[in-house]
Order: sequence, then structure tokens, then C-alpha cells
Amino acid sequence: GCSPQGQCGCCTVLVDGQPRVACVTPVRRIAGRSITTFDGLPAADRDRWGEAFATCGATQCGFCTPGIVVRLAALEAKGIPPGEHGPVEQALLAHLCRCTGWRTIVEAWDRATGPVRSGPVPPRDADRATRRARLEGGVDQAIGPEVAAGRGGFADDLAPAEALVAVPDGRGGYAVGATLTEARAAAGRVPGRHTTDELRPVLAVPEGDWDITLQTGWVEPAYLEPDASWCWPGGTPATPLGNGGAFGGKHTSKVQADARRLADQHGRAVRVLWSREDVVRLGPKRPPLAAGVDRRNRRVVARVVRTPGVADALAAALGPDAELAVEEVDVAGPPTSRTLRAAGWAEGVALRAALDGVAGEVASPQGGRARAVIGPDGSLDVHVDAGMPLDEAVLRSYCMGAAHMAAGWVTSEGIVVDDDGVPVDLTIRSFGVLRAIDTPFVRVVIEPSERDPVNGSDAVFGAVAAAVWAAQGFPPRWPTGRTLR
Ligand code: FES
Repeated sequence: GCSPQGQCGCCTVLVDGQPRVACVTPVRRIAGRSITTFDGLPAADRDRWGEAFATCGATQCGFCTPGIVVRLAALEAKGIPPGEHGPVEQALLAHLCRCTGWRTIVEAWDRATGPVRSGPVPPRDADRATRRARLEGGVDQAIGPEVAAGRGGFADDLAPAEALVAVPDGRGGYAVGATLTEARAAAGRVPGRHTTDELRPVLAVPEGDWDITLQTGWVEPAYLEPDASWCWPGGTPATPLGNGGAFGGKHTSKVQADARRLADQHGRAVRVLWSREDVVRLGPKRPPLAAGVDRRNRRVVARVVRTPGVADALAAALGPDAELAVEEVDVAGPPTSRTLRAAGWAEGVALRAALDGVAGEVASPQGGRARAVIGPDGSLDVHVDAGMPLDEAVLRSYCMGAAHMAAGWVTSEGIVVDDDGVPVDLTIRSFGVLRAIDTPFVRVVIEPSERDPVNGSDAVFGAVAAAVWAAQGFPPRWPTGRTLR
């Protein structure tokens, strides 16, 4: 996930029973010691954790999960009882899960370690579960214990051993080698680091006499599986969307076309692998915006980084009873895309709340409805109507993840982009994703419905962003830097 920064926890193994991230553990340090990977855990334990994670909706793409299970297994061995969540949240500090929003992982801990040791497995209709996952993630996603074992199916999983490896060379091309180490050496790139620069707004607020203003910044989608693909000469390249939609962040990824082109060029199978730094530098972001809200005249003027479709998305959220003017501007920066989760629409939902002075129920263009209420303790109460739920655990998991992502977007997320438009915060830890210990309690209530099933998590994302911003008194910049709990 961080490849390798020692920051995402995906590669966690046990060294003499102690959890360690493998990517930054030199081999000389493990001479004569015992290494246990996820697959080295007892089969009954793997099954128990896998079942608990699948039942609780604690795994979605599954890229983070084997590492988390290994760490939790070590915690269990220390005798931490079920129901005690402090040590679990502390242990999760060494990991990043972008999909689930942490709460369901804590629930999976209770289920896996509880006195009943998982209890009976609730019945699940696999077709309905995968249908719900597809609606929420936008692409196919496997559901089940195998996902927790990292077997959901990732882009690079089936690449042939003899394939060449290609990594971006930082000059718009690729360095190619027989192995990843060779390719990286040929690229000669120094791993990116976290800057200490202040986050700055990207655009100036339009001139006007405003009741409320908002400036958003560059935000990293922070999906865990970096973009990857591989291809035989003349073949069909592997999709980078192997097990999940990456919140829309990979829909415009070049890796497939690059894998095919390089395979044809070299006459051999080629794997294209982006590092975390490459994903941050090259991957699309949601378009930053600056806006003014005039309540008396029910008027919003927004300036937004030029992105096809973003003006329509803003207009759809603000509704016909608000006057909206949108100015699209070109700025030096990473690419932007409307495909990022509810891009433009969620910003519009927040501006609509500023116009009304209150965050109410929202209805997404896909038909999902949601409302969010922040409790006095910072907890989040989320109601969602996504039509027929199909699989409550899956829908709830996606809604939890969307609530976590929205709360982080408003309060803590952002990356620094320099004056030349190049992202310089390139490590997982610099994205500002809410950590487990900072994540408020989230309660998701799924409204019963006989409507056709529709995406619900995007509506939740917009509703929570608006509710958090409103609860904090509509501060003028995101991230607000204010915590929820
Ligand atoms: Fe944790 Fe996707 S399930 S990052």
C-alpha cells in the first residue's frame, strides 16, 4: 500500500510473535528468528478472523485486511479481552484502512475474540451481497472470508513470474527491469516524504458580500491498492479495479494502456506497478473549489478547478430554487476528475446546507437518500435509504466508510501541492485520513424500502460532509482542523 514507507501496515508479519511491518524490516534483523505471515496463522484462526471480518463488513477491497488480522491476532495472544476497544484502536494506528472507516473492524475484533467465538454464521445470499457491493463501489467486488485473506483478486495477482516490471521514471515514461528492484534502481527515484508545509487553499473566493464562504483543497483519494496492471503482447491488460472501485480514483488510470503498449514493445509480458508516490503524483483528485453563499438572495457563486461535469454536479445538489454561477479555472496541479466519490455533488450539498443554515436530508442523483446528525459527543447518526438493502452488512459497511471519509475530508484531509502544481505530500500518513482513535462513533440506520436498490453511500458521504461542516459552524476552509470527538 505504501510501497514501501512502513506506514500502511498491509505487510504486517509476526517476528517472534511481535507484529512488524515487513517492508522496512531488514533481512539481517530477522536472522535466526521466527516469521509468521497471515498464511502461517493456524487455519482455524484464519477462518475465525475471516468469518468475523466478512460478517461485520470489516473488509471491502481487502488490501489492508491480512495485515490487520495478523496484528489483531498478536493482540489476542496478549490476552486483551473482547469489548476492550482502546488497545484495538491503538493497534490500528499502525494501519490504514480507507474503505471501512474502522468501526466495523473493531466490531470484527469483538466477534472473533468473543466468548461465543463468532457464534453461528448468519445466512447470506452471495448474489445480493455482491450486487450491493457493486452498487456502492461502482465495480465488481467479492464478498466473503477469502477477501479478508487478501484473496479478493488484485490487479497484479495473476501476473506471470517471467514478466518484466515497469515503474514510472518521473519523466513521463517507464523504467523497465527484470524485477521490481531492478526497475526501481533504473528509475533512480528517491521515495517521497511528508512535508511540513501548511495546507493552502487552491482558489480565491469570488468577490462578493457573502454570508458564508468555503475553500476546499487538494485531497488524496487514498485507496490502498496502488494502480497496477499487466499484459501479454497483444493481450487484454489486467484491470486496476481488481476488487473494488477505489472511490472512482482509478477510472481514468493509464496503467492498462501502458501495460499493453510496453508488452507489445518488449515482446514479453510486462507488469506496470505504480508506487504510492506515483499514485499521489499522477492520480486524479476531486476538483478544489472556492465559493460564496448569499443567503438573502439564495445565491451561490463558485470557482472550481476546470473539470468536465463538475458544474452540473454542483447544480444538481443546489437544486432549482438556488441561483448558482460557476466559474471554472485552470490551475497548476494534479489531474482532477468528476469520477471521484460524489465530486462536485457533495460540495454542492454542503453549500446547500450553508444556504439553508442547516444540513437536512439529501437525495443523490443515483436516488440514494441520507441524513446525518452529529451528537453532542461528536458521534454520527446516519440514516440511509438505498432502496432494498440486499445485504445489510455490506450496505452498512459502505455507509460507515463514506461517513468516515466525509468527516475526514471536512476536518483533517489534505495534501500540499507546490507552486508548480506538483504534490509534495507523498506518504500515507500525510493525507490526514482520520485514524481509528479519532474516528467518532458512527451509527448507521438503514431505512426499510421496497424501492429498487440504488447507491446509498454517496448520499451518506454528502450528508455527513454537510452535517459536520454545519455542526462546526461553517468554518471557511476545509480541512477545518477541528476534531469531532
Ligand atoms: Fe481496508 Fe479496503 S478494506 S483499505
